[in-house]
Formats: sequence, C-alpha cells, structure tokens
Amino acid sequence: MQKSEISKEYCAVIEKERCRRALLFDNCKELFLRHHPEVLEIGCGHGHFLSAYALAHPEQCCVGIDLKSGRLKKSVKKLKKLNTKNLFFLKAEGKEFIGALGQSIRFKRIFILFPDPWPKKRHHKRRLIQEDFLLELGDHASIGACIYFRTDFQPYFEWTSKMIEHCPNWMLDQNGRWPFEEKSYFEQIHSNYKSLIAKRI
Ligand SMILES: C[S@@+](CC[C@H](N)C(=O)[O-])C[C@H]1O[C@@H](n2cnc3c(N)ncnc32)[C@H](O)[C@@H]1O
Repeated sequence: MQKSEISKEYCAVIEKERCRRALLFDNCKELFLRHHPEVLEIGCGHGHFLSAYALAHPEQCCVGIDLKSGRLKKSVKKLKKLNTKNLFFLKAEGKEFIGALGQSIRFKRIFILFPDPWPKKRHHKRRLIQEDFLLELGDHASIGACIYFRTDFQPYFEWTSKMIEHCPNWMLDQNGRWPFEEKSYFEQIHSNYKSLIAKRI
C-alpha cells in the first residue's frame, strides 16, 4: 500500500470517529431536551433490569446505554414490545456518554449492574469504575443521588468500595435500600453477588 493510500485510510477512520461522536452528542442533546431522563443504567446489556424498572416507575424517565450493538438491539426490541414512553436506549460508552452531556444534566439514580470485571491486574485500567469517571459522574448527579452498583466479583466490589471512600463527591450509603429488584441477565446467571450504594454529597 502506498503512503497516500495509508493517509487516505487514516483520514477516513478519523472522519468516521468524528461523525460517531457528533451523532452521540446530537442524540444526547435531543433526548435530554425532550425527555429529561433522571435514571441511568450504564452497561444495560439486554435491558432486562431497566425495562422492568421503567414499567414500574412510569413517572421516571430512564436511559440505558451499552457499548455493544448486539446487546443494545435486544434492549430496543424489548422497548418496542413494551410500548412505554419513559424508556430510551443509546449505544454509547459510559465515559463518552457522560462527556457528551450538557452541563446542567443531573441524574437521580445510576445503576451499574454486573459490569465487566476485568480480573487480570494489567486490565484493571479497563474497569468502568475509575477515580476520574466517578468525579465526572458526580458532576452529572444531583445532591443525594445514588449509584447502585452490583457485582458477582468480590475484588471488583472491594475496588469500587475503596474508590467511593476516597472520592470527594460520593460516600458509601451503608443504610441505603436497593430501590427495585428485577434480575438482570447476568444476575440470573450469577446468584452470588454483592451490592453497594454510593450517595452524591
Ligand atoms: C457483564 S455485562 C452485564 C450486563 C447487564 N448489566 C446485566 O447485568 O445483565 C456488562 C455490560 O456492560 C457493557 N459495557 C462494558 N463496558 C462498558 C462501558 N465502558 N460503557 C458502556 N457499556 C459497557 C458490555 O457491553 C456489557 O453489555
């Protein structure tokens, strides 16, 4: 392949990425202008949990995001069957999604259920829960809002507890109650799990 062809290909990749981000930005803008979702699930997978949550809470507008198209398609299929007006799904990576939100956007409830555990030490940096991510999430959470985190992987539970303890805008809410129970796809497979609730302070 010649040098000019490589640079053409490179430009096409950059352009595709720019369009993808612009589309996410536009989708977020429209969704939040029209519907003001206050409940977020990051890594919603097949959408089992959030679909049931939205049905049980018709007064709350919910948005679920996942980075995998295949999983999201299943969520959207569920959504069409439910015919509910308070539930939306977007294909997005967690950090990118938060970065695409307008400054005034605040969530009241954020669910993170069975996030990918990345057990190997060299992969820990790929975990969704990171110090900077918690800070950014805090900027888009109302005071008193909660993160509801659940995992079947004990080391990830400990990792998240420690990060919350050290994060200036979140605190562990030891007396908090899980607001709604519905088994997510992964919860159906992993019955042994731990949950924590972090409150925005
Ligand atoms: C183990 S599955 C759990 C799915 C669902 N929460 C459940 O309990 O059945 C983790 C999901 O998170 C999604 N995911 C992983 N990293 C993500 C990220 N950074 N942003 C958004 N979604 C992510 C994956 O595509 C996958 O669907």
